[in-house]
Amino acid sequence: MAQFSRRNLLKASALVAGAYGLGIGAAARFGPAFAQPKPVLLEARSTDAALAETAATRGVMTYGNDGMPPTLRIAKGKPFAARLENRLDEPTTIHWHGLRIDNRMDGVPFLTQPYVYTGDGFDYLFTPPDAGTFWYHPHCNTLTQMGRGMTGMLIVEDPDDPVFDAEIALNLRDWRLGGNGQFIEQFKARDAAKAGTYGTLRTANWQREPQYDAPAGGLLRLRLVISDVTRIYSLKLNGAEAHVIAIDGNPVPNRFALDFLMIGPGQRLDLALRMPDTEGTIVELEDIRGSKPKILARLRATGPSLKRDLRDIGPLGRNPVPEPDLGTAQNIPLVLSATAENAAVDSICGTLGYSFWAINKRPWPGDTADPTAPLAEMKLGKSYVLDVANPTPHIHPIHLHGMSFKVVSSSARPVQQFVSDTYLILPDEKVQLAVLADNPGDWVFHCHIIEHQKTGMTGYLRVA
Ligand code: C2O
Ligand code: CU
Repeated sequence: MAQFSRRNLLKASALVAGAYGLGIGAAARFGPAFAQPKPVLLEARSTDAALAETAATRGVMTYGNDGMPPTLRIAKGKPFAARLENRLDEPTTIHWHGLRIDNRMDGVPFLTQPYVYTGDGFDYLFTPPDAGTFWYHPHCNTLTQMGRGMTGMLIVEDPDDPVFDAEIALNLRDWRLGGNGQFIEQFKARDAAKAGTYGTLRTANWQREPQYDAPAGGLLRLRLVISDVTRIYSLKLNGAEAHVIAIDGNPVPNRFALDFLMIGPGQRLDLALRMPDTEGTIVELEDIRGSKPKILARLRATGPSLKRDLRDIGPLGRNPVPEPDLGTAQNIPLVLSATAENAAVDSICGTLGYSFWAINKRPWPGDTADPTAPLAEMKLGKSYVLDVANPTPHIHPIHLHGMSFKVVSSSARPVQQFVSDTYLILPDEKVQLAVLADNPGDWVFHCHIIEHQKTGMTGYLRVA
């Protein structure tokens, strides 16, 4: 693990506080008009966990008690508070992936907040404007901290959503463990320069092929998060009919039957699934990408059939994502590329020691004390089209913080105009993502394959 000198840390904190005036607590901005919600305590800590068959894995990192970080359930439009306490022996922060919240709550070291040093804490306070399936994770030494476990689900509930007979949330991810159940090197440079380094053990909710019960003939809401640092999934269900009802938290304009769907790190999928009628029947969730298909989880039908119909499920509540104006939108070209430049920038929040990737020819690993210039400056209230091109031979789940975009068109495939925060861009694809710049601040834009992010495929957009 990297060593962090107190002096550098202090210097870095001072810089952030000086440059952005971040010393004030969030309460100052939100209170006293709001009743202060009681904060959820998220203690960042290391633990042992039973992941592999062979032995408990040491040095797992999580939030809260032993085991998987808690799946937080919060309410749309209601203030939410979380207190991060750092019991790790390195700095950390929390980023709330997909939430359109105040920039100071976004959890990006140096850009939006000072990192949280060992023994220190940070109070997050925000009101989620949108309902849906989201998640949270650190934005500091991310490959290690996420790779070792710090990826939690965040579900924002909407009272206007239809009622299902059951709901199951699955946090899908891998672990890089050796035969003895212990962590092995998190990445290989030669893989980081390609698709990324894959885990060796695959889990759903930190379990190998877990099985869950759901009422026979009933309607189930299945919420999935791909919180892995590398792996792209092609998800398929065996033994049940399901409709995709939301992608990346937001309802899809037109529901469609799940045949199989490719979904990448950072992305979420909400499925409406009808369980089989016969008690004991098993439904399998499978990843069919790659040469070895893998069952991720199973669902077992229980009890007498409820005899429900998928078409009984009404529309999800709407999210108030502002509609970009395509007539006046200005284009921002963003080219994701490999880079030959090989000077890695050192950072308190971890460096992988290489730079393989770039956005608009500029490699930046993010989370450094001297952010380069923004990729673009956007005027508050104006609409933009992020014109993203991927001339590389690899897929990149490209993610924007703080604002949701509408997928307008793609050169590679027909797209529904869905609203999202992470787009899985294929090799040679060009995609137009429209966004109304309504949230002021510096917002990171990066690939969510963490090795790509941390070896250069990161930048940020400034809204002012
Ligand atoms: Cu899940 Cu910077 O993001
Ligand atoms: Cu990438």
